[in-house]
Amino acid sequence: MIKKYHPVYKEEYEQWIAAHQQEIEEVSKDPRRLHYHLMPKIGWLNDPNGLCQLKGTYHIYYQYDPFDVRGELKLWQHVTTKDFIHYEEQEPFLFPDSELDTHGAYSGSAFIQGDTIHYFYTGNIKLFDRDDYDYIHNGRVANTIHLTSKDGVHFDEKQLVMGMQDYPKGFTQHIRDPKIIEEDGIFYMVQGARDMKDHGAILLFASQDLNHWQYVRSLQSDEPFGYMWECPDLFELEGQKILITCPQGVDTQGVDYANVHSTVWMQVDGTIKDSLRISQIHQLDRGFDFYAPQSFQDEQGRRILIGWMGIPDADYTNPTTEDGWQHALTIPRELHWKDGKLFQQPLSELKVLRKETLHFNAKSLCERQYDGECYELEALFQECEQMTLSLNEEIQITYQDHLFTLDITKCGYKRTTRSVYLDSLNNMRIFSDTSSLEIFLNDGSEVFTTRIYPTRPRCVTLNTKEGDTKITLYPLTAHQVK
Ligand code: FRU
Repeated sequence: MIKKYHPVYKEEYEQWIAAHQQEIEEVSKDPRRLHYHLMPKIGWLNDPNGLCQLKGTYHIYYQYDPFDVRGELKLWQHVTTKDFIHYEEQEPFLFPDSELDTHGAYSGSAFIQGDTIHYFYTGNIKLFDRDDYDYIHNGRVANTIHLTSKDGVHFDEKQLVMGMQDYPKGFTQHIRDPKIIEEDGIFYMVQGARDMKDHGAILLFASQDLNHWQYVRSLQSDEPFGYMWECPDLFELEGQKILITCPQGVDTQGVDYANVHSTVWMQVDGTIKDSLRISQIHQLDRGFDFYAPQSFQDEQGRRILIGWMGIPDADYTNPTTEDGWQHALTIPRELHWKDGKLFQQPLSELKVLRKETLHFNAKSLCERQYDGECYELEALFQECEQMTLSLNEEIQITYQDHLFTLDITKCGYKRTTRSVYLDSLNNMRIFSDTSSLEIFLNDGSEVFTTRIYPTRPRCVTLNTKEGDTKITLYPLTAHQVK
């Protein structure tokens, strides 16, 4: 029997899956299932984990709870691909089946050295020997666990490399989500943390051999910014150090930080060995459903990022919950750093999904009334002052007085609008799937990632005073998952 706060063993999982084939079949028939995004075949998905490429094969793992659509018991599900078009669903990689991770194989990452993948993740344990734990300052164990694999499928033993006694004083018990970066021959690990004053931070640890770790120092913003930083990812991109992290509980400021929890990129200067300083903070995504992204460098040297197309503690219920599944991963995106800004661009492999190329201007798009659900739309503007793009009566995308707004009030399940101010709107690329939208503005310097639940057929129209807006629309086919 699968029970909360009990270990989950592989054999039990296999029996459970065998006994729930009918439900899995039902889930697969939901018309809101996405066509080119990874999703759980049943139950719940959250953070991408352990992203890496070894000998040509990309490994994508994610936080997975097949047993409960609201997500309680965290396993690591595993999918592989060589081209981001053909995927193979593998058996779960990690089960919370040891005394180190009994209450969840929480998020973690992969680091490749030679022909070996080193994984680091948080083994989550809740204590129940007293009834007055607050589970912030006491009652929790966050074990940092290390394991290695030569193929991304089989691994040696789970080894504890840090426990509660190894974390610094001045921090609560909310410490998790290890990620590795190498600098000048030393390995560093970042972990997300919440300090005793309820300010978010990352903790930095150093190692010469990936087994023995020592605390270096913490890193925080000059002004407090949220109470906990989850899923930190520190990396160097085109000569600039960037920290992506998920601060929880940042106050809304105008149109910024409108979600309950945020995801940001921070410009970080200095060296890890001597000192680091955060010099700029910017929202990584402006939509309703984006959190816990993770990046990795592939064998071609590209920095690829995948996020969770969902958010924790959301104040709305995803309607697919009733159909036995929740959430998905974003499309993979390539990161670039230019002129002091981080850019996200859909991975070029996705072009293979294009079925045909249709050219429009605003007028001909209205006449044609394109009504597909799965497509990529590219619009190139010339001095755009105002525009309204309707995907059907239920979704409006507008730009006026430098304010770009996505309005999903009519199909958002209580969610309404998200916006960003832009100096100018030069181009827009939209990836539309059955129940999701990913909108990349100005070469991906601003992105909106959102689940949508329209009930009426789509019909794309664009109204703008500039008649020469060039629109290219590519109907997209589904990716394949075996
Ligand atoms: C972020 C997160 C991580 C944690 C994981 C548990 O969504 O809360 O901090 O490791 O999810 O599933």
